[in-house]
Amino acid sequence: MEKLVIRGGRPLRGKIEISGSKNAALPIMLACILVDGPVLYRNVPRLRDIFTTLKLLRILGCSAAFTDEAGHEVAAEAGALMPEAPYDLVCTMRASVLVLGPLLARLGRAKVALPGGCAIGARPVDLHLKALERMGARFDLDSGYIVGTCAELRGADITFDFPTVGGTENLLMAASLARGETILRNAAREPEISDLVNFLCACGAEISGEGSDTLHVRGVSSLRGCAYSIMPDRIEAGTFLTAAAITGGELFLENCPAEALNAVISKLESMGVGFERNPEGLRVRSGASLKSAGVTTRPYPGFPTDMQAQIMALMTRAEGSSTVEETIFENRFMHVPELGRMGADIELSGSRAVIRGGRPLIGAPVMASDLRASASLVLAGLAAQGETQVRRIYHLDRGYEHIEHKLNAVGADITRLEDR
Ligand code: UD1
Repeated sequence: MEKLVIRGGRPLRGKIEISGSKNAALPIMLACILVDGPVLYRNVPRLRDIFTTLKLLRILGCSAAFTDEAGHEVAAEAGALMPEAPYDLVCTMRASVLVLGPLLARLGRAKVALPGGCAIGARPVDLHLKALERMGARFDLDSGYIVGTCAELRGADITFDFPTVGGTENLLMAASLARGETILRNAAREPEISDLVNFLCACGAEISGEGSDTLHVRGVSSLRGCAYSIMPDRIEAGTFLTAAAITGGELFLENCPAEALNAVISKLESMGVGFERNPEGLRVRSGASLKSAGVTTRPYPGFPTDMQAQIMALMTRAEGSSTVEETIFENRFMHVPELGRMGADIELSGSRAVIRGGRPLIGAPVMASDLRASASLVLAGLAAQGETQVRRIYHLDRGYEHIEHKLNAVGADITRLEDR
C-alpha cells in the first residue's frame, strides 16, 4: 500500500491541465458493447477505474486497450460478446453494473454480480432494474448475481423515482437499440449524461432532450463506430479550485469545464474566492480571507456530492460557522473524524455537519476511506502546518490522475511512499 506525505503551508501558483472525466469515460467506454465497428476514445484519464473498465470489456468479448504506454487514447471494439461480469471486478468498481443495459440490448442476457455496499452507503440498483423491467427485461438473483433476460427490449415511458445517474445511463444505452421510443422522465441531468448522449448520437443513436430531465430515445437497429473525445473532469477541476483557495494561492486550470462547475464556483465566490473565465480555462484566486457558507448536496445542477468533502476541508479555514447537508448518500462523512485529527472543529448530526472554522490545521497521519474523502484530506494537508500523511491512497488513484505530480508542479511538496 502507498501513502502521500504532504508538507503543508505552501500557496499553489501556476497552471494545471484538467484530465478527462472518469465518470463520463466509464459509461461511454462500456457503451462500445452496443457499437458495430471500432471506436476511438480520446482524452481518457489513466486511472485505476479505467483499467478495470478495460479489463471488464475484454472479459465481455471486446477488444479494449490504450493505444500507447502513456497516452490518453483507447481503441475498443465489440467482438463475440459474453454476458457475465464477474464479482471480483464488480466489487472493485460499482459502475460495472452499467453493462446490464448494453448486454441486454445486444444479447438479451446479462449476468452481473450484485454490487455490495460500499464505503459511502448501501447504493442499491433497484431503480436500474425496475426501469429495465419496464422495457421487457426480467431479473432473478442467483448466487449473488443479477441475471437479466429479455426476448427483446421495447421502448417504454419510464419515470425514475429519483434522478439516478447510473440508472439514467444504463437506460439510455439499453433504449438506444430497443424497438420503438423510450421516454426517460425525472432523468439525471449531470454533464456526464450529456457526454454519453453525445457519444451515442455520434454513433447514430437518436436521442433528444439532452441536458433536460426528460430524454426521448428512438431505438435504432445498429450503432456505428466513431472517434470521440471525453469531456474534462469537473470534479478534478473543482478539487484544484479548492486547492488554490485553501492554500491562499492562484491557479489557472486549462481545459476546465467551468459551465459544469457553476454551483461550485458560485459557492466558492460567496466564500470570497475570485474567478476569471476565459476560453482557454479558468483562473482562480484565493481572497484575503474566507467567509463561512452553507452547502446542501443536490442532483445536478445543484451542488455535487462529489465536491462535499473537499469544500468541507475549505470551510475549516473560513471565519465563523459553516454547514454541510448531505442529501445524496448516507455515510458520506468519513473524512470528518480524520479532519478532526488535524484540528478541525466539526460537529456531526445525521446528514448535517457544522464546521466551526478558523482553527489552525496541524499535520497528522490520516486514513483515506473513499475517493472524495481522500481528496479532502489532501487539501487539508496542503493547508496544514507541518507534515500530513494520507494513508490508503489507492482510493485517490481511482479518480485523480497523477495528483501529486500535478500539485507539485504548482508548488506543493508531496511525496508518494510505500506504507508498511
Ligand atoms: C454517480 C457517480 C458518483 C456520484 C453520484 C451522484 C459515477 C461512476 N459515479 O454514482 O461519483 O457521487 O453519481 O452524483 O458516475 N440509488 C438507489 N437506487 C438505485 C440507484 C441509486 O437507491 O437504483 C440511490 C443511491 O444509493 C444514492 C443515490 O440514489 O444514494 C444516487 O445514486 P446515483 O445517482 O445512481 O449515483 P451513481 O450512478 O451510483
